Amino acid sequence: MKILVTAGPTREHLDPVRFLSNRSTGKMGYAIADVARLRGHDVQLISGPVSISSPASIVCSRITTAQEMHDLVLEQLPDMDVLVMCAAVADWRPCEVSRHKLKKNAMQSTLPLVRTADILEAVQRIRRPEQIIVGFAAETHDILSYARDKLDRKGMDLIVANDVSRSDAGFGADSNAVTLIDKTGAICELPLQSKHEVAKKILDWVELHAQKIHANASLR
Ligand code: CTP
Repeated sequence: MKILVTAGPTREHLDPVRFLSNRSTGKMGYAIADVARLRGHDVQLISGPVSISSPASIVCSRITTAQEMHDLVLEQLPDMDVLVMCAAVADWRPCEVSRHKLKKNAMQSTLPLVRTADILEAVQRIRRPEQIIVGFAAETHDILSYARDKLDRKGMDLIVANDVSRSDAGFGADSNAVTLIDKTGAICELPLQSKHEVAKKILDWVELHAQKIHANASLR
């Protein structure tokens, strides 16, 4: 299959030296891309700024902002069978980006922000029904109810709910403990394990779901 994976944070600059971002390191998204490649899929990675080097034999496009990730995902989506939106996309950006470093005495004590484009909401409007869309929910509380809400609201086939309040899971850790929820409401809780193992379970679900889609299509 052709699989597009997004990974890492985005950065929303205020000036050339300051930005808004988040704690994502890209490890989960890179693990998914790597496992998918090892299974013989044709993988494209769109990555925010991370310190991991690009995996061998994966086409990796590096972006900085949510808008750049949005534009590239929408451009590449028509050619894809699967999109895994693992990136922690910034939800807000400064209204203005200064070309020069802002001097502190000239700065206001409040920072005007505007919402960034929601990539999965845009994807929902243009996706084909047979494309498989996987999203993540990074939460600190009420994890499953927020995840279910995002699954419905953003038209995903599968959501990976992630408790990022734990130090051994989520941002920066080599391990993760997640719950997979699919659009039928089926739930699969995965205990703490390496991000590579979690990536394998996510891809197991994607591959099984793709087989069902093809089986249904051939019955018609
Ligand atoms: N996402 C996206 N575009 C955005 C923000 C998030 O496509 N501008 C995607 C993420 O990649 C993830 C999913 O939406 O797969 C859920 O992201 P999350 O940040 O948990 O949810 P939000 O919709 O941003 O909601 P909130 O910040 O209120 O939790």
